[in-house]
Amino acid sequence: MKFVERPEYGPFLTFQPSKRLPVYDWFYYKEAFSPQLVKRLVSELGLKEVVLDPFCGVGTTLLTCKALGMQSVGFDANPIALLASRVKCADYDLGELKQSIELVLGAEFEPPTWKWRFELFPPARAFSRGSFEEILFLRQRIEEVEDKKAKEFLLLALAGIVPETSFTLKDGGVLRLVRGKRVPPAREMFRRKVLGMYGDLKHARIIGPVPSIEVGDARMLPLEGEVASIVTSPPYLNNVDYTKVYGLELSLLLRPEQVSRLRQRMLRSFVEREAGGLDVASEVQSALGEASSGGKVPLVAYAYFEDMNRVLKEFGRVLESGGKAAIAVSNAVLPGASIEVDRALGLLAEGLGFKCEVWVGARRWAQLPKQHRREAMRESIIILEK
Ligand SMILES: C[S@@+](CC[C@H](N)C(=O)[O-])C[C@H]1O[C@@H](n2cnc3c(N)ncnc32)[C@H](O)[C@@H]1O
Repeated sequence: MKFVERPEYGPFLTFQPSKRLPVYDWFYYKEAFSPQLVKRLVSELGLKEVVLDPFCGVGTTLLTCKALGMQSVGFDANPIALLASRVKCADYDLGELKQSIELVLGAEFEPPTWKWRFELFPPARAFSRGSFEEILFLRQRIEEVEDKKAKEFLLLALAGIVPETSFTLKDGGVLRLVRGKRVPPAREMFRRKVLGMYGDLKHARIIGPVPSIEVGDARMLPLEGEVASIVTSPPYLNNVDYTKVYGLELSLLLRPEQVSRLRQRMLRSFVEREAGGLDVASEVQSALGEASSGGKVPLVAYAYFEDMNRVLKEFGRVLESGGKAAIAVSNAVLPGASIEVDRALGLLAEGLGFKCEVWVGARRWAQLPKQHRREAMRESIIILEK
């Protein structure tokens, strides 16, 4: 497996460059990459359509493909990510959308009856009293919007203002309540958010084929035919339990029971999911043996690579012969071991018959748990060819 330094890709492995890009910035998703990454990969690797992103997140690959005039298809396990992808990639009748927006923005406040339940803490604790009531009221009004696309557009806008209007902080892998945080009023923020999004559609509309976006598990893709290319990034090992960190936003869409069922469908990338008997395939054992240092590989890493091995097998099934995949990953520092995720995945992919190269985009420093030592971690793109 060849490792190649490609620092020009580094800045685009994060959401940072998307923060001020119309449409791309509609929903803040720290784990997303940026459209420039997809554009460069498409042009440098000569990627052909149809492009698949089986962990599509908030739709960066899909929206970029749309802008490039390429057909794409996306799956994700998380409804909030799917909502963001669908809303960002849809085509709208602006007249109809405007009517639905006016219906919600112009509605006179009434005490809401909508019940908001969240498994980690009562949502009322996360907001000022006024904002909490306003969000309940808006959520209720949105429920009454008949046009499905407009309803989802407004729902995404509402979910999108939760971080800044609440006393919450997404802190690494957890969601924390922070007392004393200054927060703007929800209804005004919602109005600005919706009008900003509508303005983007008027002035910076992205034109191209609308991707197909469905709920799906990347370990067993509900996909019959073949695709020519894959551009994706799986959840990072031990990084984020997306169902908790985006839990408050999710609870605007789902009931707590649905959220806990959803957690079972997520890739095992975080410590809490390491429980349960685990059969580890010999190829996973040996890839991890070669790609880890520190001596004590935690169970979660075995679970993660078991899952990713299944994902790679799915890539082998759905990619056409000669098709290429680009997979953005980050190495991991876990209690007990640090793991070269790029190398381990590369070894598994080679074992499945792919040609493999690793492009190293960036190196960042990570603090080793319980040690006074830092280690340079790679952020890479694994390039596979079938
Ligand atoms: C690193 S993020 C992808 C971000 C994406 N590249 C973007 O720009 O928005 C990984 C995604 O994988 C999703 N995910 C986790 N487990 C999954 C599974 N088993 N199948 C499909 N998607 C899953 C998460 O919900 C998350 O959105």
